[in-house]
Amino acid sequence: MKKIIFGLGMSLVGVSLMASSGEQLAQKCVACHGSDFAKAPLGETRHVVSKDSKAKIIKMLKYYKHPEEADEKVMQTQIMNYSDEDITKVAEYIVKLRKK
Ligand code: HEC
Repeated sequence: MKKIIFGLGMSLVGVSLMASSGEQLAQKCVACHGSDFAKAPLGETRHVVSKDSKAKIIKMLKYYKHPEEADEKVMQTQIMNYSDEDITKVAEYIVKLRKK
């Protein structure tokens, strides 16, 4: 039993060492937002992310964890497993894309 618990602890350490980069975290967003985040997601022209500041992206992503409107559930599915740290990383990555 002790061995099992030890093994479990070690695999948790392994997972946290392999924390995802902003680029990795942004991979699944590309389908709807485009690789430069300049696409209107599902035709929602009001929600083009490439115009947003880093602070606004972070604010929106945290908000989408607990959305008020039904059409925002799309983003809830995307973001519910992202930690606050992941959200910051992905926002930093998106903002950096513009300077290229
Ligand atoms: C299935 C398609 C889809 C995927 C995948 C997706 N989004 Fe979205 N996203 C949307 C839609 C639709 C909206 C607009 C929702 C609304 O009505 O508020 C949106 C809105 C946003 C907004 C708010 C922009 C604004 O100015 O209002 C941000 C930021 C955002 N998404 C970031 C992301 C990130 C980061 C990911 C990847 C982790 C992601 N999205 C993945 C469809 C998607």
